[in-house]
Amino acid sequence: MTDTSADITTAGTDWRAWQESWDRQQEWYMPDREDRFSVMLDMVEALVGTAPRVLDLACGTGTITARLLARLPEATSTGVDLDPALLAIARGTFEGDERVSFVTADLKDPDWTARLPHGSYDAVLTATALHWLHSEPLAALYGSVAGLVRDGGVFMNADHMIDDTTPRINAAERAQRHARMDQAKQADALDWAEWWQLAAQDPVLAGPTARRFEIYGEHADGDMPPAAWHARVLREKGFAEARPVWCSPSDTLLLALK
Ligand SMILES: C[S@@+](CC[C@H](N)C(=O)[O-])C[C@H]1O[C@@H](n2cnc3c(N)ncnc32)[C@H](O)[C@@H]1O
Repeated sequence: MTDTSADITTAGTDWRAWQESWDRQQEWYMPDREDRFSVMLDMVEALVGTAPRVLDLACGTGTITARLLARLPEATSTGVDLDPALLAIARGTFEGDERVSFVTADLKDPDWTARLPHGSYDAVLTATALHWLHSEPLAALYGSVAGLVRDGGVFMNADHMIDDTTPRINAAERAQRHARMDQAKQADALDWAEWWQLAAQDPVLAGPTARRFEIYGEHADGDMPPAAWHARVLREKGFAEARPVWCSPSDTLLLALK
């Protein structure tokens, strides 16, 4: 069941501007955000070729899908998310693009995969999202992802992955990252709360934004287990190999091969 239409009147909305302002907001938190996408797509191409069927998991406004299609125009993508406002931006951005579809689903729902248009994908890709889930539902989600990725296909997760055996390193890295964010803030970067305030003031996004706050509150409250946890659980759930293919001092891009 693929839902490709927004449930709101969208005429005149500059979706691409909203998409770009989302990207700028996320980059304030992760100045190296594009680096992980670039390596992610290198690995997609290396392992499943130039025309993959992709699932953009917790797609938000569809940033991964946009990078995918810019790099691999023969790819197709299904984005799945629960946030009505971010999905409205995603649907508006890709309206008329036959390669792209979007699905509303809660990844914590055990039957979420039944909503997808396909039962099997060459690549399932996700970024900065699964730390919204606690470890137990995330392990269950990894089980359903393992069922969706074809043999020889890949799953990649770029996210905050914290090694709690290195508390002093973590604290120093965090302090430096936040000091740099404070500096960038003086140069007018929008943070999460400010970005959502803007969305709430937009005549088209106000309704879906109110609904997303009913769903999530300010932000979901999940876990950030270390990369080794993700690799181990992904192997337990059916992937043959799993390891980081990129990392920063705070984040990791974990690749699992079925
Ligand atoms: C910080 S955004 C990242 C979006 C996108 N991947 C990106 O990199 O721009 C986190 C996303 O995870 C989605 N998400 C969190 N929990 C979810 C759930 N249980 N089901 C579906 N989507 C979820 C949110 O709606 C949001 O779009």
